[in-house]
Amino acid sequence: MRRRGFLAGSAAAAAAAAAGGVGLGLGRATAAVTDLPTGQRLMLPPLLDTSTAGRVDLATQTGLTRFSGGAPSTTWGFNQGFLGPTILMRDGPLRASIDNGLDEPITVHWHGLLVPGEHDGGPHTAVAPGANRTDDMQLGQRPAMLWYHSHVHGATARHVYSGLAGVIHYTDGRDDDRGLPSTYGVDDLTLILQDRRFDPEGRMIYNPTYTDILNGMLGPRILVNGQAQPIAAVPRGIIRLRIVNASNARIYSLHFNDMRPFHLVGTDGGLLPKPAEMTFLPFSPGERVEILVDLAQGPPPTLMSARGLPLSLLRFAHDSTLAARITRPPDAIADPIEPLVAPPGIITRRISLEMGGNSTGQVQSDRQAPPETDMGGNMGGHAGHGGAGAAPMDHAAHMNGGVPVHGQGPAVSGLVFDDFRINGRAYRMDRMDFDVKQGSIERWIVSGGGGVEHPFHVHGTHFQVESLASGGPPLTQNSGWKDTVLLSGGAASLIMRFDHPASERFPYMYHCHILEHEDAGMMGQFTVS
Ligand code: C2O
Ligand code: CU
Ligand code: CU
Repeated sequence: MRRRGFLAGSAAAAAAAAAGGVGLGLGRATAAVTDLPTGQRLMLPPLLDTSTAGRVDLATQTGLTRFSGGAPSTTWGFNQGFLGPTILMRDGPLRASIDNGLDEPITVHWHGLLVPGEHDGGPHTAVAPGANRTDDMQLGQRPAMLWYHSHVHGATARHVYSGLAGVIHYTDGRDDDRGLPSTYGVDDLTLILQDRRFDPEGRMIYNPTYTDILNGMLGPRILVNGQAQPIAAVPRGIIRLRIVNASNARIYSLHFNDMRPFHLVGTDGGLLPKPAEMTFLPFSPGERVEILVDLAQGPPPTLMSARGLPLSLLRFAHDSTLAARITRPPDAIADPIEPLVAPPGIITRRISLEMGGNSTGQVQSDRQAPPETDMGGNMGGHAGHGGAGAAPMDHAAHMNGGVPVHGQGPAVSGLVFDDFRINGRAYRMDRMDFDVKQGSIERWIVSGGGGVEHPFHVHGTHFQVESLASGGPPLTQNSGWKDTVLLSGGAASLIMRFDHPASERFPYMYHCHILEHEDAGMMGQFTVS
């Protein structure tokens, strides 16, 4: 990491860097190789504070990134070679300018930001190579961890995999009053979780087979902010971890190796009223969690994931030069969440995510699944694999099987099939699926099929999970405001209000956040008027 990169962020990032911390960023330099070695000190993306200027400038670019000491990979990023800055947003006007320096169209979808469809960055707002797009938005919502990523239909999976993703911290500046750690890179760590595949020389590859489309693309190596097995140096006190699952398909079950309890304090759309103690936290693609963990006692633990074999994600080490600012979790964080109340005659929609060659959602295959040799001993992504088979050649042809991360094959519609559907229909950009009345509350009963778990996401709203199919109350991780929910073996009942408009030109999306499923057709779109 070149020292210059440390200065790319805001004063806070610079201060954190001075304190021995962070700074994953290279400015605009593309020629040099960014080194992201294994087992090194955790770096955080540079902080980009939009509140003084009221604007954010993002430029996509290619980079050369050396992961874990291997051969350099060609990667993509925003304002740097891989991934993007952490953007600080607040209520008020925001001008977002996007320059596309890549040779194919991209979009910037603000996942979790509550803005009208025309500013949402969905598939209908592609920015051509060399072009600029500028959005003037009026922001207003609860503080939360959001994220941004490219969302070009048929190419989202490859774009995000290549690095077109970053974090948004939506803030009201009141975290100190709440007793929440908030010093970026010191007691407040931003973690972008992704799993990746590498070729024998260490180059990152995106080469999904049809089986990988069915399961979602999983990789054996887990990266945190692009680094494998990093070590976070932290003070002896309460540490806040703000984590986004930016993996294409991997579902994690977060826990610490010594099974110490931790507290969930925030979900996709906002903070919880009070910390909720947990030991294991299921965590699916698209979701964000904020947790507090007390690292004062005992040897510093390792953050792990258990789904199948345990995977180590992030080690901690004490740094005695860093002062612990918060030493106990707050009793209360936010006002109680007002339940959305179903009005008489509420519109109820049944939404069924389907995959496979017939209407039962079962995957049709008479072939043996190939040995999962490249999974590094941890398949762990999904509970079941629904009889997924090896790639028949005709399918492989459709998706350019075996292309490198990017740079070859058609830019769009790389992964388009007709056997990934919602309510019997694969996504079409020119077909509206329904209209929602602006300001109304709706109930969506969503179910997932095909023998895998699907994380379901809706644009333009945050929802409350009313219940799971089992009938019980929502799981702890679903007790706050959500925009993405994991459907594990059954239906979830979601209640939501739509406050912003979305026209036929710029509709909102709803889809599975396993990006290969989404690209392959497990998506729909709707207007709000
Ligand atoms: Cu994060 Cu429509 O996606
Ligand atoms: Cu989204
Ligand atoms: Cu899915």
